[in-house]
Amino acid sequence: MSTVAIDFAGVMKSYGDKIAVDGLSFTVAPGECFGLLGPNGAGKSTITRMVLGMTTPDAGTITVLGVPVPARARLARERIGVVPQFDNLDLELTVRENLWVFGRYFSMSTREVEAVIPSLLEFACLESKADARVTELSGGMKRRLTLARALVNDPQLLVMDEPTTGLDPHARRLVWERLRSLLARGKTILLTTHFMEEAERLCDRLCVLEGGRKIAQGRPHALIDEQIGCQVIEIYGGNPHELRALIRPYAQRIEVSGETLFCYASDPEQVCVQLRGRAGLRLLQRPPNLEDVFLGLTGREIGK
Ligand SMILES: Nc1ncnc2c1ncn2[C@@H]1O[C@H](COP(=O)(O)OP(=O)(O)OP(=O)(O)O)[C@@H](O)[C@H]1O
Ligand SMILES: [Mg+2]
Repeated sequence: MSTVAIDFAGVMKSYGDKIAVDGLSFTVAPGECFGLLGPNGAGKSTITRMVLGMTTPDAGTITVLGVPVPARARLARERIGVVPQFDNLDLELTVRENLWVFGRYFSMSTREVEAVIPSLLEFACLESKADARVTELSGGMKRRLTLARALVNDPQLLVMDEPTTGLDPHARRLVWERLRSLLARGKTILLTTHFMEEAERLCDRLCVLEGGRKIAQGRPHALIDEQIGCQVIEIYGGNPHELRALIRPYAQRIEVSGETLFCYASDPEQVCVQLRGRAGLRLLQRPPNLEDVFLGLTGREIGK
């Protein structure tokens, strides 16, 4: 087996004068879960489409499972399971037929497809909906069917663009558990997500993007230590600007987001002492997490 599952080297992609991916390089090792994080418009979906050979880069080289892409993308795609950002199921077909058609697309025999359908229905918790048409499914059920469909050909690599968006918290946790079992079986996953808990729990390494460029990369806990490295106090209520002045001497960094003040401090007790007894204030002291890293790196503005 190749020592690299995905190799992106100096990849560029523009749409008109908009640069979507700006000289990006990264590698994903076999068996690894590699996460792409970034605000809306950062280039994540463009990257996943380029991995699949569905979007052609303007410059740079891409190798997927040892095959040059897009030149030989068809060959690579036989061993890839795809979850696109937006479901593209066949609405007129039933759940079972969608799985069946997809299996046949991968040249599986009728017997092979029939053999895997029960486990895929179980994976998606859709056994009771097997003969329902896709139009009759809820949004989360459609998403689960898209996830199951990606596994029909027992792919070596999964390319998943926001796989759990639209799922309820219970279904999301179930999907995490199942993705972990796929990783335990040696599968490789390229994943984009806006759920920081998902990234923290599933990904071995993360690449944080902004404007098509890599702004940080590493293991989730290493990124948290490097980028934050101290306790966080969330402060609600009160006038953020007045409070900011009060706690500034005791904080490493302070950020205001909406009505909340985020205070990063290595001695949080000193900050809390300043604020205790103030009417209407609520304090939450906690260890730093990946959301702090994301917001610290990409700012608190909405991606354009
Ligand atoms: N087909 C297209 N035509 C023109 N511009 C595009 C096209 N696809 C993407 N873009 C632009 O490229 C940039 C990156 O888009 P992309 O969809 O890759 O972002 P993303 O990181 O997946 O965002 P999101 O989190 O919202 O899904 C955006 O500025 C977007 O407007
Ligand atoms: Mg996207």
